Amino acid sequence: MMATVVASAPGKVHLIGEHSVVYGEPAIIAAISLRCTVSATRSESMRIWGRELHQTLEATPREWATSLEQACAIHRSCMQSKNFRPLFDLMKKKPMNLPLVASALVLEKLSVRTGANIKIRSDIPIGSGLGSSAALAVSMAKALSTAYCYELSSDEINRIAFEIEQFNHGTPSGGDNSTCCLGGLIWFEKRPPVNIIRQVEGAIPGNLSNFLLVQTRKREKKTGQLLQIVRDLPEDFRVVRVKILGRVTGEMFGALGRKDAATIKRLMNEAQQVLAELRVSTVEIDQLTEAIRRIGGGAKLSGAGGGGFVICFHEDRKRLEETIRGMGYSPCEVQLGVKGVRLEASA
Ligand code: PMV
Repeated sequence: MMATVVASAPGKVHLIGEHSVVYGEPAIIAAISLRCTVSATRSESMRIWGRELHQTLEATPREWATSLEQACAIHRSCMQSKNFRPLFDLMKKKPMNLPLVASALVLEKLSVRTGANIKIRSDIPIGSGLGSSAALAVSMAKALSTAYCYELSSDEINRIAFEIEQFNHGTPSGGDNSTCCLGGLIWFEKRPPVNIIRQVEGAIPGNLSNFLLVQTRKREKKTGQLLQIVRDLPEDFRVVRVKILGRVTGEMFGALGRKDAATIKRLMNEAQQVLAELRVSTVEIDQLTEAIRRIGGGAKLSGAGGGGFVICFHEDRKRLEETIRGMGYSPCEVQLGVKGVRLEASA
């Protein structure tokens, strides 16, 4: 009997710096206590099951290799045209979806030409700004490589996860997969070929306990499509705002270190204003963040936007919770700064 390997990786939340991080500005991102778990058993062909997949995906080695080749070719041409719509259309086609391309890419990197029985379980809401795809990419790379007896370093897992993220998002920064892989609180700057990634837990104020997450409407667009909205804005308009977000993120790092609540709130609100100008907020997010601003708090969308989660902060947690409930939402309790990818079991 082949051994089954189980690996899990956390989701993430952007304290600040989403979108601008894609253009080389910094972001501060925390790993959260919601995880994606992948179990993998070596097999002659590929069989992938997951609650969100609605059907079991099956592919022979030749089929998964062809799917991967096709995705790589389209990704290359999209990189040239800077228009990723053909890639997103392709990824929507069955069975060309993320779990299949992700598992194919991992096996291809390991020069394995067979497959695996894979089960995916995730408590990270999909497409809501909490890094569900990055956590899947990281846990898939860890589970499959371990099932095939490779001991990849965190750097190697992270690099493979980044390549997987490119199929889903076109031009991701690499911040999500780095946080899901390494865990903790991350200062991230996209600087290819070697990104700046620093674990900065020391700057967490009181375990980030006065931050609350709120889930607004499920978003209709994927991260890649929201990135495309920002990319399609007039360059001058975008560049100015990206720079502001970079400056605000730098100031946030100092404010977190000083536990300076007033500045943390002001910077969150400033970031939300700029993200709205970049067209990635929604009416619901604008209304919720405005209500929190009115009680003297800070709130902003988190991740790509277009719906999904909002991150809120107020020293008076009770008042913050009441305001969130008063707007018809439930505050979501998650721990920030948790451990990154890990093996759960191997039997
Ligand atoms: O919404 P998510 O979880 O996919 O986060 C996207 C974060 C962005 O900064 C918008 C993109 C990126 O790759 O950093």
